[in-house]
Amino acid sequence: MSTPIDFAALPHDFLWGTATSAYQIEGAVAEGGRAPSIWDTFSHTPGTIDNGDHGDVACDHYHRWPQDISLMNQLGVNAYRLSIAWPRVVPGGDGPVNPEGLDFYDRLIDGLLAAGITPSVTLYHWDLPQALQDRGGWPERATAEHFAAYASVVAARLGDRVSRWATLNEPLCSAWIGHLEGRMAPGLTDLTAAVRSSYHLLLAHGLAVQAIRAGAPGAKIGIVNNLSPVHPATGSPQDVAAALRVDGHTNRWWLDPVHGRGFPADMREVYGVELPERAGDLATIAAPLDWLGLNYYFPAYVTDDPGGPAPYARAVRREGAARTGMDWEIDASGIESLLLRLTDEYGARKIYVTENGSAFPDAVRPDGGVDDPERQDYLERHLAACASAARKGAPLAGYFAWSLLDNFEWAYGYDKRFGLVHVDYATQARTIKASGHRYAEIVRAHRERAGRTA
Ligand code: FCB
Repeated sequence: MSTPIDFAALPHDFLWGTATSAYQIEGAVAEGGRAPSIWDTFSHTPGTIDNGDHGDVACDHYHRWPQDISLMNQLGVNAYRLSIAWPRVVPGGDGPVNPEGLDFYDRLIDGLLAAGITPSVTLYHWDLPQALQDRGGWPERATAEHFAAYASVVAARLGDRVSRWATLNEPLCSAWIGHLEGRMAPGLTDLTAAVRSSYHLLLAHGLAVQAIRAGAPGAKIGIVNNLSPVHPATGSPQDVAAALRVDGHTNRWWLDPVHGRGFPADMREVYGVELPERAGDLATIAAPLDWLGLNYYFPAYVTDDPGGPAPYARAVRREGAARTGMDWEIDASGIESLLLRLTDEYGARKIYVTENGSAFPDAVRPDGGVDDPERQDYLERHLAACASAARKGAPLAGYFAWSLLDNFEWAYGYDKRFGLVHVDYATQARTIKASGHRYAEIVRAHRERAGRTA
């Protein structure tokens, strides 16, 4: 049973895309002058990644990108969200630029444009050059300055052809999961390092906005956050307060500063860590943006956890709720409420859903085809919820399905498959899954409707 989507609520020039990130698909980690990133180090540290997986080869996209562009054409999408690997372009993090790295992205962008696909470029999807980690990484202010220098190099080279730019992908994960929970690179569990990282990531974002605007006039710039609606597990005052803290930790800490509201006072108190503030930083962080990127996967239900790590709350699993293969609760209404929150509370003028998708154990048929009815259902429900938000006034301008390909799912390795296209890692064979074919139909249906009503 398919879920009806209110296509009429979506603009005619809606971007229909898929998303990936460099470390998750490229492979070729030691080719073309690339230096290691924190993810190379982390994934080669025993015990960090399921099955001991790493991104050395991944989807071999570095060599197979022409084929991957033709897959996008088969899906009929008109946009692609990719990330640039900082350690390919500026292998040392600062200092000399690697021309071979820039050439790779130059060819990729030209290939996309020739195929009629609009590139949307993310500058940082977690792959900090290891050389900068060795000098302190995100807890250090200099890292933000080096990021801006790298951003201006990329903008100068690609800005004549790329107009959509995102500075950071999910700084929440870099700061909180990477420096507080330790489940992602660089694998620290240090609240002070985490809070300092969060500050410098947002500063890096603001400095990069300036750098991109200088290097690529006309650029449309945004930031990509992964947000969750947060609900208290019970009506107890403790859980209600816990939900407010988790909302601060997950959502407000990242949204308020870029909207000129500063860092939320309640959360500064919860963390109790002094921010490495300097005069002028808040204005830099609040540089005007052209769009907001929303990554949405699941809602949060939380309970008070005074003995746990900041923000002293933990997620609870709701019995009976439908879940993906990541054990993430499925709730399409969450994407609608977040789109409306960005619109109503933050005054968003343009929003892209920059990621949304699901992992399920796919059934590969003997003929190689892949049946994935659960992913198809997830996709349709979330698209219907997006259209519903647009109908209610959210300025939604595009949707990027995560992901084009099955890929290296960070600490989960290759077992968690999010692709609309299946990847056989032994042969690198790509096969469009049933959900990919369904996505192609949806894109076509919207386009036909837009054509009729144009
Ligand atoms: C997001 C990441 C992306 C991918 C999806 C499943 O948090 O941005 O790289 O791993 O989750």
